[in-house]
Amino acid sequence: MNDWRVPGFTSTGSKRPDALFGTPARMTRASGARVWDEDGREYVDYVMALGAVGLGYGHPEVNRAAEAAIAAGVVGPLPPVVEEELAEALSAQIPWLEQVRFLKTGAEAVAAAVRLARVATARDEVLGCGYHGWLDWCQGATEGVPAAVRGLFAELPFNDVAAGREMIRARAPRLAAVVVEPVIVSEPTREWLQMLRAETQRAGAVLILDEIKTAFRLAIGGAVARYDLDPPDLVVIGKAMANGFPLAAVGGRRDIMADANRTWISSTLATEGVSLAAARATLAVYTRDNVCDHLHRIGTRLLHGLHEVQRAHSGLVSGVAGIAEMCFLHYATEALSRAAAQRAAQRGLLFKRTAYNFVSLAHDEGTVDRTLEMLHESLRGI
Ligand SMILES: Cc1ncc(COP(=O)(O)O)c(C=O)c1O
Repeated sequence: MNDWRVPGFTSTGSKRPDALFGTPARMTRASGARVWDEDGREYVDYVMALGAVGLGYGHPEVNRAAEAAIAAGVVGPLPPVVEEELAEALSAQIPWLEQVRFLKTGAEAVAAAVRLARVATARDEVLGCGYHGWLDWCQGATEGVPAAVRGLFAELPFNDVAAGREMIRARAPRLAAVVVEPVIVSEPTREWLQMLRAETQRAGAVLILDEIKTAFRLAIGGAVARYDLDPPDLVVIGKAMANGFPLAAVGGRRDIMADANRTWISSTLATEGVSLAAARATLAVYTRDNVCDHLHRIGTRLLHGLHEVQRAHSGLVSGVAGIAEMCFLHYATEALSRAAAQRAAQRGLLFKRTAYNFVSLAHDEGTVDRTLEMLHESLRGI
């Protein structure tokens, strides 16, 4: 037990000190790629709000759009004009989003996709691969989830063609949806993705790509765009799409999205105008400035540097994981991993020891080179 009013220290579990750096534990301000803690110390950051920021913290154009939406009243009695405008702009950039519904969190948006799949198929069972948020439908092992709900969900192994095919076929008559994250530490094989597309079609199940982390990062259109995939039936996007403002969306095939009118998917503040305006501004900057090219270029510099870090400290660092846009170091032990993250933080670098570190438009070559030096220095001392 402790004295915090917020149990577990914070409402965002992945930001608890134990999962990050120990200290600094709390912050007061962020700008670009930099963060300041409660004592005024400055850090270079790669947590990027757990991937929710791709342009850097407080991007001026996004802030201006948000400020205008605040001045326009934030919310109101009717849906705002910007809702349809954003849906239109998204589908212009991501054509397989024929229709879109907005929600506030990734977990909500994936739950909505699963609901739509259950309506479309009149089936209940779901296979998932990766993290899809905290809600009951996918939290098999979590305390408090009813056994009956748990029984409708099973984990599909990433990149395992034979096992995936077998699991989908075994459940075919009862399977509503297969929900997958397209990148889990490593890239997906084309064979695995093709198997998912073919087998879900054969089973009459809905294929949902959870692009919460990968949209607005690998490409605006996520893994589907990056790897030039056949579009899934539904896609879920969130995180970086509003550069830190709370917004997520489910979208995809018009016939499946139309089922939103048959079931009930709705949230009071889903039509709050600040996040919608922020997302529209974010999308405009991404398009104009080829932001994903920058993320790939800078991320590649970081990833190459991490391999050098591993070579130089091979007794401590056991591997480099992830891809250019989202990566981390594997350490030989849990204790070393903690020590490394803490020592880097003491030097002014917030670099995660687990999935993932994210670069942003605010990270340039100089930032990355300084980061790699700080990583070398902090490991040298262990
Ligand atoms: C792939 C994926 N899906 C869903 C979620 C849940 O999103 P949120 O935390 O916004 O509910 C996350 C969050 O990390 C995620 O990475």
